[in-house]
Amino acid sequence: MSKYAWCLVVTMFYGISAVAQNYEAKVDSIMSLMTLQEKIGQTVMYGGSWDQTGPIVGVDNGKYIIEGNMGAMLNAMSVKGTRDLQKLAVEESRLGIPLLFGYDVIHGHRTIFPINLGLSASWDLKMIEESSRIAAEEASAEGLHWTFAPMVDVSREPRWGRISEGAGEDVYLSSEIAKAYVRGFQGDDLSLPNTILACAKHYVAYGAAQAGRDYHTVNMGEGELRNVYLPPFKATVDAGVETFMSAFNELNGVPTSGNKFTLRDILRDEWNFKGFVVSDYTSINEMIPHGFAKDSTDAARIGMNSGVDMDMMGHVYRKHLKTLVEEGKVSEDYINDACRRILLAKFKLGLFDNPYRYIDEERENTTKYKPEFLAKAREIAAASSVLLQNNNNALPIDKNIKSIAFIGPLVKDEYDILGNWAAKGDRNGKAVSVFEGASEYLKPNQILYAKGCDILKEDESGFNEAISISKQADEIVLVMGEGHHMSGEAASRTNLKIPGIQPRLIQKIREANPNKKITLVLMNGRPLNLSEEIKTVDAILEVWFPGTMGGAATADLLFGTVNPSGKLTVTFPRNVGQVPIYYNMKNTGRPIPENNPNEDYKSNYIDVPNTPLFVFGHGLSYTKFAYADLKLSTHQMTFSNTITASVEITNTGNYDGYEIVQLYIRDKVGSVTRPVKELKGFEKIFLKKGESKVVTFTISVDTLKFYNSEMKYTVEPGEFEIAIAPSSDFKFKHIFTLN
Ligand code: NOJ
Repeated sequence: MSKYAWCLVVTMFYGISAVAQNYEAKVDSIMSLMTLQEKIGQTVMYGGSWDQTGPIVGVDNGKYIIEGNMGAMLNAMSVKGTRDLQKLAVEESRLGIPLLFGYDVIHGHRTIFPINLGLSASWDLKMIEESSRIAAEEASAEGLHWTFAPMVDVSREPRWGRISEGAGEDVYLSSEIAKAYVRGFQGDDLSLPNTILACAKHYVAYGAAQAGRDYHTVNMGEGELRNVYLPPFKATVDAGVETFMSAFNELNGVPTSGNKFTLRDILRDEWNFKGFVVSDYTSINEMIPHGFAKDSTDAARIGMNSGVDMDMMGHVYRKHLKTLVEEGKVSEDYINDACRRILLAKFKLGLFDNPYRYIDEERENTTKYKPEFLAKAREIAAASSVLLQNNNNALPIDKNIKSIAFIGPLVKDEYDILGNWAAKGDRNGKAVSVFEGASEYLKPNQILYAKGCDILKEDESGFNEAISISKQADEIVLVMGEGHHMSGEAASRTNLKIPGIQPRLIQKIREANPNKKITLVLMNGRPLNLSEEIKTVDAILEVWFPGTMGGAATADLLFGTVNPSGKLTVTFPRNVGQVPIYYNMKNTGRPIPENNPNEDYKSNYIDVPNTPLFVFGHGLSYTKFAYADLKLSTHQMTFSNTITASVEITNTGNYDGYEIVQLYIRDKVGSVTRPVKELKGFEKIFLKKGESKVVTFTISVDTLKFYNSEMKYTVEPGEFEIAIAPSSDFKFKHIFTLN
């Protein structure tokens, strides 16, 4: 059979117009031409190689492509690179099946947005969708068809570096955000050249790694799995996500890349997921050190039988699946299913109509860093920042101030500011530092600068200069935090303090300036222990790693052009010993009594309170919002009606601003214990100063469902407490009953 065989066969059978309609039949026609090894080839993904000028074909990759032993590639992009590779696949392999190019486009491709934990703090689904839409525009213009995002792992583990990649600790919010990412990446029509496949990862429970150590063991009951860790994945299926990635961790003794229960029983049978599952990077092979597979042949057998359709970088499918089928250890049906799903994705992308559809120099040259993308990145970075503390209205700063001392290793940084997984974001000069951002507001003679110290080095030689300029200035802005490599994959920490000698420098600056306003701008990828800093500085502005326009956005907030509106999606502990700490915990049989907090033999610590430093949902504004008492449409809910809860919110301060209004419910008694509160809705509203708005939430039986001890998704009659609040720190006062 000659190259482009699929074209001929498809056209022969269906004619051109019918071709556009029926992907399944087209896939069948192609598969009828494929050998078993060629079908296996579609389930194989390898990485692109690079030389100084960009991606190259590489000897091995070239060979595998021509043999029909590769269906997809990661880390190969650019119009030139993907064209060379695609040409080999389409023109030199026996059947000419196009390749799929995937890459980690996580929080932007060229234009980098805040890290995902930061994006989640915007609680702004429209903005999150826009960020992934822009990322898809830029990535697809460089030949990419597929992103390994969104990462939808719920995590309550700040030691785990990858908490930076998710949407925090809450189930409902993570699920809503997961859908927004999918909508942004995939759009409405995958065949358009500016939409890409999304990938829900890391399936599943990766965010619950023991002791926060990456890749570590996870043990949890099925109830917790279903109630907390699975819902965001299910949400992506509902949103039409095309691919899933299995994870590195084991779950209750079974690695998640060899877990038939999660991959076949839940994902395929319960959720009816039709797309394909890719392994994480060599995660199939890693079942050997896990002690779950004897050798790489065994790993390939388990991976495919359990439901992993594509092997990322492991070489085990290519090498072993054919023999395993011949020996009857893997059903050929599984290979056919996997191959069919992968080909279907290629059809949906339009690659069989035109394998070069994403390969267009003109688009590549004109798409990246478009001014409108940068403007969006600035807006989104500001919306993602969280004003944690603002004693005596230290912020905003009057731009007519005589002088400000900017101090810290991240003031002039244009590198770390992009955060981890910054895809092809330019770390050498494209990003706007906080210094540059502030320079839009201030004249050079108003700005003093000293680096003071490094993020990690124990070298105090810069302290004197920093202290000296701090004394000359009217106000001080410290820009400090973690390096970008201190969160993300394989970047777990046991210490949640601001790293290195930065905390010491903060103390020294306060000692030298007992009465001056000090603002701490923080860049970091996880909740930090700020117990000392809240006492030392006046204001703390959490900007995460805010991306390409991060410095400009930070300045917009510091000088009050934009009013902060972000709220935490993850709890900030008082110290690492409180971890895991999250708002929607269970109550225990011995909660601390409200009227007698010091009573003995209660579930407490003897050295710190149970409460965190900053709660889930916390975030200040330059204005104030007053919440009137909540009104329920009725206190009696039945299984067939819905009820509404509403509250009037008034902007009582001096600035216009956004407020994130949060609905919480507690199911008081259940056949299994229920969390002390659960987020069940939210709305971000804009109020001009003096303005009021009524926010209304509708509560239905679905709002109240959970998995019971028989793993039934159900709702139980009884009493429910309800509140609408500015954060998770409130006491319930209202009740409704369901019967
Ligand atoms: C390993 C990471 O866990 C995953 O998130 C990523 O998509 C792959 N490597 C590919 O880079």
